[in-house]
Amino acid sequence: MVIAVDGPAASGKGTLARKLAAHYGFAYLDTGSLYRAVGHAVTSAGHDPADEMAALAAARNLDLSKIDERAIRTAEAGAAASIVAAMPPVRAAILDLQRNFAHNPPNGLRGAVLDGRDIGTVVCPDAKAKLFVTARPEIRARRRWLELNNSGSGITEAQVLEDIRERDRRDAERAASPMKPADDAHLLDTSDLSIEAAFGAAVAIIDKALG
Ligand code: DC
Repeated sequence: MVIAVDGPAASGKGTLARKLAAHYGFAYLDTGSLYRAVGHAVTSAGHDPADEMAALAAARNLDLSKIDERAIRTAEAGAAASIVAAMPPVRAAILDLQRNFAHNPPNGLRGAVLDGRDIGTVVCPDAKAKLFVTARPEIRARRRWLELNNSGSGITEAQVLEDIRERDRRDAERAASPMKPADDAHLLDTSDLSIEAAFGAAVAIIDKALG
């Protein structure tokens, strides 16, 4: 049983997906963290994130249990992630890992929630329920800025908005698995919703889809 939660950066999909996994007793995989880990591995080894050989080697060596949560949450790791995520060989190297998690969730759990950009379209096109979570760019920039500011980053809100627009463009326009809602995805705009209200709306959609 797979629930796919896709959407752009800081749309609220991560928070939502985590809450859904807890609610249904499913495993949770943040697939953006995989691309972030690859981007971070490449840049911290001194390579350019556009270096495809270095990115592919990092993707092949990716170990879910070794991801450094703190290091991958910076704006730099996010920017590097969106560059390596546009490389088809990198996406292919990470595909099996994601599908394996979806179809054999850890700890014997009977389902999985995956969040990302292409879960409903490419990774798990047969997911039982698909959500595409969005919010206006200004709202997403505010949320991401508050998050980054809490961890002591000196970045301005205007810079975050610019990064978000740039990342949306790169994620949506790339040829390999671009970010787009699956034909059978339910759209959920969280711009004017509290976390609780978004969660309630998502559960209503998913309960119906799961029957
Ligand atoms: O959701 P996030 O900001 O952590 O994602 C980081 C980058 O990874 C983002 O620019 C798009 C990319 N990504 C992707 O291409 N496919 C996914 N399934 C998840 C993330």
